[in-house]
Amino acid sequence: MRQNEAIRRLVRETRLEPENFIYPLFLVSGEGRRREISSMPGNYQLSIDEAVKECEEARALGIGGVLLFGIPQSKDDRASGAYDPHGIVQQGVRAIKREVPDLLVVTDVCNCEYTSHGHCGKIVDGDVDNDQTLEWLAESALTHAAAGADMVAPSDMMDGRVGAIRARLDENGYQKVPIMSYAAKYASGFYGPFREAAESAPQFGDRKTYQMDPPNAREALREMRMDLEEGADILMVKPALAYLDVIAAARQAFDVPVAAYQVSGEFSMIMAAARNGWIDQERVMMETLVAIKRAGASILLTYFAKDAARLL
Ligand code: PBG
Repeated sequence: MRQNEAIRRLVRETRLEPENFIYPLFLVSGEGRRREISSMPGNYQLSIDEAVKECEEARALGIGGVLLFGIPQSKDDRASGAYDPHGIVQQGVRAIKREVPDLLVVTDVCNCEYTSHGHCGKIVDGDVDNDQTLEWLAESALTHAAAGADMVAPSDMMDGRVGAIRARLDENGYQKVPIMSYAAKYASGFYGPFREAAESAPQFGDRKTYQMDPPNAREALREMRMDLEEGADILMVKPALAYLDVIAAARQAFDVPVAAYQVSGEFSMIMAAARNGWIDQERVMMETLVAIKRAGASILLTYFAKDAARLL
């Protein structure tokens, strides 16, 4: 049953569709700005007007949605740009929902792009204070929803953030805004290029006190169960390719949509090898995406969204 493409297509078990993809975008202030991220070829820091163009293209390609990250003009130790109602993401959401209203807009809810120290929360005595950080996260999610975000996606890995965000959204009339939780997010070396893109590398220490330890899989199920109990609607595993077992376990254990984030380092590794002529970019791109879906993720966050959608 492998003799030709017609029969292979007939018996194929897993299919990718552009509507499975979510395309991450990095917003900066200004106009007409499109600065390529050197470690992520084909990805840019975009001013809002340029991001709107990307969104129009994504929509035309049938891509499921976009995920917005913001790089504020100035950072401080209170992450004030994260929950400023006129912050970069909040402005971006308003513009995109105005210009491309039927495109799903998801916002990343985190503080590391907005803090001067690059950590995902408030620093107290040299470490991130979990509970004091929840207030920043809840307020960020609320300002995103108020700007018109279709869904919020907390990526900070504080305990209790899903519950805090759910409560804040509900109290303010945003009961219908779902939460896609970065539930099993590992302290990974694969985020390297993202930290260049988002200018969010921690200035001291690392994120191992709040992101998960890579050897742990049972703990991932516990993290996901907690997030579901707090009100998460979609569970995400991140990174993707090195954690296919965790994706498969999540798919088995829970009856909510499972998402997986093919992160910056996964993207850049493929691009770098392809640029050296060592692998075929299109083949490996499609092979990794289909593997992530086969493992059990129905939603794929990927920097390849446009390339893969074009090919499909
Ligand atoms: C914010 C956040 C990160 C990523 C998504 N949200 C960076 C990090 O945790 O350091 C990584 C995405 C990627 O590498 O593509 N906390």
